[in-house]
Amino acid sequence: MEKVIQIKTLSYRYPDGIKALNNISFDISYGERVGIIGPNGAGKTTLFLCMMGLITGWEGDVVLFSLSMKDKKNHPIVRKKISIVFQNADDQLISPTVFDDVAFGLLNHNFSRDEIPKRVKKSLNDVGLNGFSNRLPFHLSGGEKRRVCLAGALAIEPEVLLVDEPTSDLDPRGKRKIKEILNSLNNTRIISSHDLEFILDTCDRVIVLDEGKIVADGIAKEILSDESLMLAHGLEKPHSLSPHVIPHHYR
Ligand SMILES: Nc1ncnc2c1ncn2[C@@H]1O[C@H](COP(=O)(O)OP(=O)(O)O)[C@@H](O)[C@H]1O
Ligand SMILES: [Mg+2]
Repeated sequence: MEKVIQIKTLSYRYPDGIKALNNISFDISYGERVGIIGPNGAGKTTLFLCMMGLITGWEGDVVLFSLSMKDKKNHPIVRKKISIVFQNADDQLISPTVFDDVAFGLLNHNFSRDEIPKRVKKSLNDVGLNGFSNRLPFHLSGGEKRRVCLAGALAIEPEVLLVDEPTSDLDPRGKRKIKEILNSLNNTRIISSHDLEFILDTCDRVIVLDEGKIVADGIAKEILSDESLMLAHGLEKPHSLSPHVIPHHYR
């Protein structure tokens, strides 16, 4: 299968000396649905920032669509094909209206004035926010804000979508909606989370990160069922993967 992402012995140290990524290697093929899981501080966000070219100065290589992110000339080409939804919607929503926020990436990528409204409408429709164009992002619920961010990321029709902790702070209904949207997409996508029920429902493959290292990479259901592996890395096996024990008095 053709590789869309190749991470090769990637290491990164923040300027203050924290080693956030330590010799990471993995490949992702077109169409894969991959979960990056790990406790807080494992390096999930840092890995996404490296893939977007928002962090540079790492060792190793990040190759996207067969282009090395070491070469800054490749960044604008790659950024037309990859989008990120950040963990904190309030960092991403900066415009006075929902329309402007969703249009932001399109303007940056020089889409035509005719094309932009069409794409914004389609993206809002895809995330179930028809009619929200003139709303103030500021006033929306947490779940709606997250969906506006997703619409903005989808508007450029990216081949690869990175979604950082999409369920943090969402209520069950908000989570369910995000899950439905993500599962309706065909893009290659990588979702970071420590919400393992969510990962189980949205990903086929899982990469476990801890202290900047990959500690497991494989089939989601198999990895998430491994209770001792989950516990060793600050995670918890999803309840849905445990056999349901019927209390004695009901037998
Ligand atoms: N801007 C930063 N400057 C210095 N250290 C950072 C910065 N951002 C993250 N870190 C550190 O890098 C490590 C990985 O963080 P991060 O990638 O945010 O992990 P995760 O997203 O898995 O919670 C942590 O030890 C964190 O404290
Ligand atoms: Mg993070």
